[in-house]
Amino acid sequence: MSAGRLVSLRNPWFTTSVALTAAIALGAVYTGFVWLPSQTNAGLQSVWDTICSAAGVQRAVPVTEAVMPAATQTTQVVVTPQMLHNASAESIGRGATFALRCTTCHGARGLSEAEVPNLAGQYVAAIYKQLQDFKSGARPSVVMASFVADLSDPDMRDLAAYYAYLPRPPGYHPANDGLGPQIVTNGAPMRSIAACGSCHGRLDNKAGSAWLEGQPAAYLRTQLQAFASGARHNDISGQMRNIARQMKQPEIEAAAAYYANQP
Ligand code: HEC
Ligand code: HEC
Repeated sequence: MSAGRLVSLRNPWFTTSVALTAAIALGAVYTGFVWLPSQTNAGLQSVWDTICSAAGVQRAVPVTEAVMPAATQTTQVVVTPQMLHNASAESIGRGATFALRCTTCHGARGLSEAEVPNLAGQYVAAIYKQLQDFKSGARPSVVMASFVADLSDPDMRDLAAYYAYLPRPPGYHPANDGLGPQIVTNGAPMRSIAACGSCHGRLDNKAGSAWLEGQPAAYLRTQLQAFASGARHNDISGQMRNIARQMKQPEIEAAAAYYANQP
């Protein structure tokens, strides 16, 4: 049998084996590029899609879900230790005028009779930051939201300067009451809680944290519980949420009673 006669369409062995090989190749291509991908990937629309997917070509995945916004809005205020220091007399004066609309709740000289926080002598950065947060909604408060709605940034600076300038209520802790609750004086090192006074004054003041002495117990308790539950979430980097979440209920009560104590 010569080579010429072997490779010839008239040779039935040759045509059958070529046809068979071609059929197997086509079957393999179909199985690998079309059938298998279409079984595993239901989202493929056309034959071309399945072939591209099998060959590893990236396709733009259609976005079916809207991008979720962050669940909680936190503060936009950046606080620094020097912020708003050295307020001018004019600024304090303007603040005193604005403050006339705050006296019904926060008291004539920033000392409240009700369960509303005192503002007298509060750290200037703390007041300014809270006003900004009420306005942006970072700290939700139905009551305060309406009073800050029309305050501009300079108005808030003046109000903060005025209230910070008023004399603050000193802490009242008679010696025979002991040192104070452990959670306040020492914190809880095993739960990463520092002594409250290392941020809130007395020992040191971390920019943006408030003077707590003389605040109403109910207010302090509510704030601690709100930080713990996340209902209040305007603290930068979760500083206060991380602490409150780790506090036990009796410790919250004890800290609130300690700071609220007044003669
Ligand atoms: C109708 C009563 C009311 C009036 C008027 C009012 N406040 Fe308040 N204020 C509150 C209450 C209640 C809170 C506590 C908010 C909370 O529980 O979240 C508060 C909280 C605050 C705080 C946060 C204090 C802190 O220690 O975190 C600041 C600052 C403040 N008010 C400033 C003002 C200023 C400035 C005005 C006037 C422009 C004003 N408030 C008018 C009731 C009032
Ligand atoms: C690492 C510093 C730090 C320590 C320690 C700390 N706090 Fe705070 N705390 C903050 C900061 C910062 C804020 C202000 C959050 C904001 O920006 O609104 C705050 C806010 C608060 C408030 C709300 C005050 C107000 O009027 O708005 C209360 C109440 C409070 N802390 C209680 C405590 C108690 C009680 C302890 C001790 C068990 C404590 N904190 C320890 C940093 C601290």
